[in-house]
Amino acid sequence: MNFDQELKQKTAEMEELLKKFIPSEEGCQKTVVEAMNYSLMAGGKRLRPMLMSETYQLFEGQNYALLEPFMAAIEMIHTYSLVHDDLPAMDNDEYRRGRKTTHVVYGEAMGILAGDGLLNFAFETAVKAFDVIASSEEANKAADYERISKALRVLSLKAGIYGMIGGQVIDMEEYKGKRQLERLNLMYQLKTGALIEASMMIGAILAGANKEEIEKIQQIAGAVGLAFQIQDDILDVTSTQEVLGKPIHSDEKNEKTTYVTLIGLSKAKEEVVRISNLATTAYKTLPFQNEFLERLINMLISRDK
Ligand code: IPE
Ligand code: IPE
Ligand code: MG
Ligand code: MG
Ligand code: MG
Repeated sequence: MNFDQELKQKTAEMEELLKKFIPSEEGCQKTVVEAMNYSLMAGGKRLRPMLMSETYQLFEGQNYALLEPFMAAIEMIHTYSLVHDDLPAMDNDEYRRGRKTTHVVYGEAMGILAGDGLLNFAFETAVKAFDVIASSEEANKAADYERISKALRVLSLKAGIYGMIGGQVIDMEEYKGKRQLERLNLMYQLKTGALIEASMMIGAILAGANKEEIEKIQQIAGAVGLAFQIQDDILDVTSTQEVLGKPIHSDEKNEKTTYVTLIGLSKAKEEVVRISNLATTAYKTLPFQNEFLERLINMLISRDK
């Protein structure tokens, strides 16, 4: 199987996994759950759960059932961040993942609640990892409890005000000061890097990687996240809505400072290459290798959607 076929197969596996964890559309929550599932099951590249799973395999994790709730949880958190990012009060975008955005279909109130619902349900889902240990025969339950606790800590921190939300805050606040590039780097490390860091770190943590390895994974993922967001800025001006599944020129519409407006398209492209090289160089110093993960990292950065 070549890389593209493998990617397609693994993406399909992620879809199946998500289906296992989605909430059921019934009771007084029916509408909000429909809106949650509408955004969650709209497709999407599923990169974050895939990065988590590949990092888990890199560190030779043995109990995949423990990882699954976290894979679903990270995609739920990512999806909520997109649902809220598209709201009229934020980027005010009408398409996402090739469909009308959640608030356009279900109304703004339900869009907000669907985002809230996804965020909370992500944690309801992640803690199911504890049930997996409770019902397992494994000898080393204490180590697993500790790993899950650590993973939950990382998930909550990276999604929160010191992570993704913090980055979105910087994005929303007008800024006319100096050091624009530093501010942009911090914004990208947080709004996009943090969830990619969480994805890879949780994979490493649950597989039993040691402290140094987890730190290195955080660094690699941070570089991947930064390059990923710069590429997102580039695609916002060079791609099409058909390919991306979301509107282009969203940044221009919102008068955003981006890597493209700040240093120009060709320099921005150079930065993507430079930063992604930092990631792959650091990756190569790890004690284990996973060829698919390495190709995935390269693909993420040179992607066209
Ligand atoms: C979009 O993320 C938002 C950014 C952080 C740039 P993705 O490009 O991973 O979006 P999906 O999940 O494939 O829709
Ligand atoms: C990433 O920034 C947003 C999140 C962390 C949700 P963008 O606003 O550029 O993402 P897109 O382009 O709408 O996907
Ligand atoms: Mg935004
Ligand atoms: Mg946006
Ligand atoms: Mg964008």
